[in-house]
Amino acid sequence: MNIKRTELDLREELDRIKSENKDLIVGFVPTMGALHHGHAQLIKKAIEQSDFVVVSVFVNPTQFNKEADLENYPRTEEADIELLRSLGCDLLFLPSIKDVYPDSLDSKKIDLNGLDLVMEGAFRPGHFDGVVTVVNRFFEIVQPTKAFFGKKDFQQLAIINRMVEVLEWEIQIIGIDIQRSIEGLALSSRNSLLSDQELKDALIIHETMTFGKSIYKDGMSTISLKSDMEAFFNKGNLELEYLSIIDNKSLQEVTTVNEDCTVCIAAYCGEVRLIDNTQFGDF
Ligand code: PAJ
Repeated sequence: MNIKRTELDLREELDRIKSENKDLIVGFVPTMGALHHGHAQLIKKAIEQSDFVVVSVFVNPTQFNKEADLENYPRTEEADIELLRSLGCDLLFLPSIKDVYPDSLDSKKIDLNGLDLVMEGAFRPGHFDGVVTVVNRFFEIVQPTKAFFGKKDFQQLAIINRMVEVLEWEIQIIGIDIQRSIEGLALSSRNSLLSDQELKDALIIHETMTFGKSIYKDGMSTISLKSDMEAFFNKGNLELEYLSIIDNKSLQEVTTVNEDCTVCIAAYCGEVRLIDNTQFGDF
């Protein structure tokens, strides 16, 4: 596996490989590192569906709205390199902040059609501006044929799809199912910050979604489903930030639930903020 740390070096390498094969399918998986089996699933899919796979590891400062969250974000470069090698990733991009954010960078403001105003956008002001800017910048640098994103970040995936449409990127966006622990906890880099007790407490998120599934009926009122799910959730030890039942396309809250809806949960487990979601159509 090749490792490149600057835009110039990465472009030189990709241009060289592309000059040998103009139709090369470049698959790209952007990450913030502290890689786990959820990331690995994206990378495996990228390897299956591309000729050449680029993974970036970059803890993007502009998408953190709390300084402490950025500081505490786990960084495990050596283990990441080892995992990527074992998976068969072709190129790892490990850029510096200066490379991703040169002084000349002109970050475009994109009309996200309200997708950024709810849930993560409402509770983490500026978060999606940071995500859109960095993913757009990586698309400029890597120029991939396909890019892979997890459905764990359901709203992020919707926003990336919107960004690709608005900016007319000819990049195929591929969404990958949420990977969970055997007990049901959605895998996340932040899980490494949880104590053994907190790892158990965090299962209430998945249990609440499973409970929702057991009482869900197509066309039922959102208010009653939501309040029953919230009451269930509040029996646990986490602090709920939001439980939203939304339309898969608009991401707006709905009044009646059907299989085109998703329940999204954000909650604090101690100091650690976790998110998860389940689509009613998958129930
Ligand atoms: P990060 O949290 O490192 O996630 C990188 C990718 O892995 C995202 O597309 C995310 O949805 C996916 N992922 C994480 N956990 C997953 C799981 N349990 N199952 C399936 N997919 C999972 O998301 C980001 O980084 C950043 O916002 C980024 C897009 C890299 C921009 O900085």
